[in-house]
Amino acid sequence: MDMKFKGTKPSRRAFLSGALAAGGAAASAGMVKAQEAVITEKQPWAQYLGDGVDAFPYGSPSKHEAHVVRRSVEWLTADPISSVNFTPLHELDGIITPNGLCFERHHGGIAEVEPADHRIMINGLVDKPLVFTMQDLMRYPRENHVYFLECAANSGMEWAGAQLNGCQFTHGMIHNVMYTGVPLRLLLEEAGVKTNGKWIMVEGADASGMNRSIPIEKALDDCLVAFKMNGEALRPEQGYPVRLVVPGWEGNMWIKWLRRIEVGDQPWHAREETSKYTDLFENGQARRFTWEMDAKSVITNPSPQAPLTHGKGWTVLTGVAWSGRGTIPRVDVTIDGGKNWHQARMSGPSMNKSMHRFYYEFDWDGSPLLLQSRAHDSTGYVQPTKNELRAIRGENSIYHNNGIQTWYVNEQGIAENVEIS
Ligand code: MTE
Ligand code: CO
Repeated sequence: MDMKFKGTKPSRRAFLSGALAAGGAAASAGMVKAQEAVITEKQPWAQYLGDGVDAFPYGSPSKHEAHVVRRSVEWLTADPISSVNFTPLHELDGIITPNGLCFERHHGGIAEVEPADHRIMINGLVDKPLVFTMQDLMRYPRENHVYFLECAANSGMEWAGAQLNGCQFTHGMIHNVMYTGVPLRLLLEEAGVKTNGKWIMVEGADASGMNRSIPIEKALDDCLVAFKMNGEALRPEQGYPVRLVVPGWEGNMWIKWLRRIEVGDQPWHAREETSKYTDLFENGQARRFTWEMDAKSVITNPSPQAPLTHGKGWTVLTGVAWSGRGTIPRVDVTIDGGKNWHQARMSGPSMNKSMHRFYYEFDWDGSPLLLQSRAHDSTGYVQPTKNELRAIRGENSIYHNNGIQTWYVNEQGIAENVEIS
């Protein structure tokens, strides 16, 4: 862009029209300093030849991006074998999560499956029990879809109040990936579901043998038996060589290292749907089978791990939003704790049960900010406040916390996880 050589900053008006066309970079471009060494002197990278084409058969990010990694919370679990780490949402843009940054949640470590020795079995209430090799699976018609996977426990540590300082930790149990896979419906149709087959039980090949019950309607609707993510083979952490994709539904049901699908006439009442993944209510009762993920959003920048370092002036606020029930046509943003709401600018593809990206550019006057975002989904549902959720659910829940997140930003631009009542 040639604007930075003009020597004057564009007017605010020019910014507002220019921001949408050019991403706003011009507004914060500096004045040319005649003798600035990084401009006038030849830099090292222009003085010698770079690496050749075969230096990195499988590429990795620049060494300057080494801080962009999944992170865990030390006190959260007793052992990394049955633990979770978090996607660095504050370092990402757009809507796709790079494969190496997708958060991981496993209950028995990463299974090391030999693809040639892996089998997927369909049994139970079917006309014809079937066994598929990976090669068999690859011969069925496949589809591509971008879906978010959110663990039901995402934001679970925030029920009793603001706790973890960073959107990576408060909201990073989510990733958004393009899956390639065979519709589960095709495999079930081949096996022939008997008329009393109302549920399936899906089971993993890992040491935890994780299993969940799924109603047959969902199994025949949009579930995928997926073997690729973002174009390449699933990563071992994500269930290589094959996982179940259950669009819009809680991550726990997306069985990794998928080995068996049993058709039955009722749910299995597995550990993961009785003692875990149920939602305690204020009155002491617990709700079971909360499958769909409610609409939710979070501002990723600024946020505690991504402070405002440039001082006053134009800045780009951004974040992500998603809903297990459809798309996100609208996100509202406030910078003053809810006194004034502004409609954010959505950018990027809007796909069913996929993450959406929003932006709100504003001229920071240097005073403290209270930032919040509020997602609206395509069913008309509006993301609730944390207190609205607590009125029904109390403070002792773990799962399905989709309340509005608040970041406080002080005069120095340092951001903190807070709540406003
Ligand atoms: N599948 C198996 N076989 N074993 C597991 O431990 N964890 C579940 C689900 N599928 C799990 C599993 C949970 S709780 C979540 S949130 C997602 O996988 C996490 O998927 P990811 O590791 O790709 O992020
Ligand atoms: Co989970």
